[in-house]
Amino acid sequence: MFTDSQLLEKVNNYISHLTYGEQPRGLYEPIEYAMSLGGKRVRPVLMLMAYNLYRDDVDRILTQATGIEMYHNHTLVHDDLMDKADLRRGKPTVYKKWNENTAILSGDVMLLLAYKLMTGMGDSYVPSVMRLFSETAMQICEGQQLDMEFETRMDVNEDEYLEMIRLKTSVLMAASLKIGSIMAEAPTDDAQSLYDFGINLGVAFQLRDDLLDVYGNEKTFGKKIGGDILSNKKTYLLIQALRHGNEAQVKELKRWIDAKDYDPLEKIKGVTALYDEIGVRSLCEDRIAHFTQLAESNINMVKVPEEKKQQLLNEMNKLMYREA
Ligand code: IPE
Ligand code: IPE
Ligand code: MG
Ligand code: MG
Ligand code: MG
Repeated sequence: MFTDSQLLEKVNNYISHLTYGEQPRGLYEPIEYAMSLGGKRVRPVLMLMAYNLYRDDVDRILTQATGIEMYHNHTLVHDDLMDKADLRRGKPTVYKKWNENTAILSGDVMLLLAYKLMTGMGDSYVPSVMRLFSETAMQICEGQQLDMEFETRMDVNEDEYLEMIRLKTSVLMAASLKIGSIMAEAPTDDAQSLYDFGINLGVAFQLRDDLLDVYGNEKTFGKKIGGDILSNKKTYLLIQALRHGNEAQVKELKRWIDAKDYDPLEKIKGVTALYDEIGVRSLCEDRIAHFTQLAESNINMVKVPEEKKQQLLNEMNKLMYREA
């Protein structure tokens, strides 16, 4: 069995040797840029870990693992354009460094490269893996659409939020794990338990992302703090603040949300102060702990020796307390 750092090294090494295309440079350079900035590489590592529960020849699926990471980076390039985010992994985002059209077109090519990598396995798994991959990619678009629609809605409730993050974030982690298990010819019920693990892990992961967007450190998180506040994202923090705040606090929150002319730093400071007063951070942390427990119970259902599951459990715990 491989450790998480061994798997991460395999992924990074494989990516560093990939070539994407030559001309025009303006199309391929942003792809090389996005792929070279690293990031945690969580999804390919999860895919390899799921595979490694059943088989040791993990190198065999490095192409698919990289395909998932390419796909993830495609979503980020488009997401940063949609969210008007300037910073990713501590560096300017593609649409800022180049322009909006570049983010659209190079982002599109990343999606197509992801498909090419995913199908590069030449055996009987192709149809089931590609069906799952395509369905997952569509669900992510559904989640991203809801995420944007929620920006202008004031009545988004917790269930709607959880469904939105299941779509935009969880299904990709779940599919990564399931694809790894399919390619290892794992039993179907194990593949389903690993998928369910990914769903709950992904929900906890996105809750943590929302929390770090307010309470993280720009240097370690690599993204601008307060981006979600500025775009009125209906995060768990905001939904709970609107629900639990007293009349004056809710009025003040709504004033910030409706404000047209404001200093961005003042808005971030003002909303964060309200979050602090209302105490939504600990509510969010409780939810993270809850979904982490659910994820753990999904892992317990997988029928492989306990010691083999330890890598996935370690990865889960690492992600729940992450700062990056
Ligand atoms: C960012 O994903 C998008 C979310 C789903 C929150 P990651 O936090 O995995 O980003 P990188 O790849 O490590 O930069
Ligand atoms: C990410 O949601 C979801 C996808 C990229 C599909 P966010 O918009 O919260 O991700 P970050 O914070 O920009 O990484
Ligand atoms: Mg974003
Ligand atoms: Mg977004
Ligand atoms: Mg975020």
